[in-house]
Amino acid sequence: VGAEIGDHAHFLIKEIGEQPRSIERTLRGRIDERFNTAHLGGLNLSVREAREFRRVKILGCGSACYAGDLGAQLIEDLARMPATSESASEFRYRNPVVEPDTLYVAVSQSGETVDTLAAVQELQRKGGRVIGIVNVVGSTIARAVDGGIYIHAGAEMSVAATKSFTSTVAAFALLAVHLGRMRDLAPTEGRRILDGLAALPGQIEEILDAEKRDGTIEAVAQEIARRNSVLFIGRRRGWPVAKEGAQKFKEVSYVHAEAYASAELKHGPLALVSPELPTVACVPDDDLFDKNTSTLAEIRARRGPVVALAHRALPEDLADRTIVVPRSEPELDSILMSVPLQLLAYHAAVALERDVDRPRNLAKSVTVE
Ligand code: G6P
Repeated sequence: VGAEIGDHAHFLIKEIGEQPRSIERTLRGRIDERFNTAHLGGLNLSVREAREFRRVKILGCGSACYAGDLGAQLIEDLARMPATSESASEFRYRNPVVEPDTLYVAVSQSGETVDTLAAVQELQRKGGRVIGIVNVVGSTIARAVDGGIYIHAGAEMSVAATKSFTSTVAAFALLAVHLGRMRDLAPTEGRRILDGLAALPGQIEEILDAEKRDGTIEAVAQEIARRNSVLFIGRRRGWPVAKEGAQKFKEVSYVHAEAYASAELKHGPLALVSPELPTVACVPDDDLFDKNTSTLAEIRARRGPVVALAHRALPEDLADRTIVVPRSEPELDSILMSVPLQLLAYHAAVALERDVDRPRNLAKSVTVE
C-alpha cells in the first residue's frame, strides 16, 4: 500500500492524509469485543508468560523512540507496569542490566535501523525477551525479535515519519490494554480505550477536513517559518508530542526547533522567551489544563507568541492562535495532537521551499553506525 505519489505534491502530505486508513489497518481484527481486550496473536506470549513480566523497557530511534515514550505512559497508565523508553542508539553503548522479568520492546518503522538492531542483539545475548513493533513485514528487526505487533501502516516513503508514528502509538495502546486486561484493568476501562481507538480514524479525518476548509495550520506555519527558532512544549503525554513535533519541524523546515517539558521551562529555556521566539504548546483539556495554562501565562508575561493545540479555543491573553483538535480519551489525545504538528512542519517546509520528502543530510532508514 502507498508507494505511489498519485496526485499529491509530496509523499509527506499524502502520508499525513492516509492516517485514518493506516490507523484502521493497525486496529483491524485486533479488538476483542467479547472480553474488552486486544487480540494480538503475533505477540507469541502465553498468558502465564505475559503475567510474569513486571516491567517494560522500550527502545527505538528518532520518531520510534518518541512513540515509545507515549507507549511507556500508556502501559504504565493502563497495565500499571513500570515502563520506560530510551534511545536504542544510547542503550547499545551502555552495559545495560538485562532482567528476566522485563519485557523489552523494539520499535522500528523500517525494521532496519542498525542501532535498534544492535540493542536487540545485545538484549538477546543476555537472555532478554524482546518483542517488536514494526511496520515493514519480514524486515531484519521483525525477524530477529521473538514475536510482536506489525503496525500495517503501509509503505512510508517520506523520510519524516508520520503515519508510522501514529500507528505505533495505536499499537502501544492495544498492547497496554492487552497487558492491562491480564492484570487490573477493568472491562469497562478496556472498552473505553478500545472505543476511543476505533473513533480515531474519523477524528483524524475531521482534523484534515478542517485544515482543508480553513487553512489555519498553514497560516500559522507561514508565520513561524520566518523565525529563527521555535519552542515546543507539553506535559506528561504532551511532552512526547512536543518532542515529535519539534523533530518533524526542524527536519523538514531546517528551522531550529526545541522541545521542552513545560515544567522545565523555568529551569532554563524561559531565558530565551521573547517576542522573537514562538512557542507551540500542547494544552489538552484534561486534569493538567490549569497547570498548562499557567505555563502559557508565564510565556505571555514575557511577550512570547503562543500557538496552542487544545480542545477548545483559548482566550487571547493565553494564546495568539489555537489549533482546535477533537477530544479523544485522555490516554489517546496525543495521537490526535500529533497530526496538526505534522501539518505544521509540512507547510513550513513548503513555505521555505525545502526538499520536503528528502531533507538534506537525512536518510529514511539509518543502516550504518
Ligand atoms: C531515521 C528516520 C526517522 C526515523 C528513525 C528511526 O532517522 O529519518 O524518521 O524515526 O530513522 O527509524 P525506524 O525505521 O527504526 O523507525
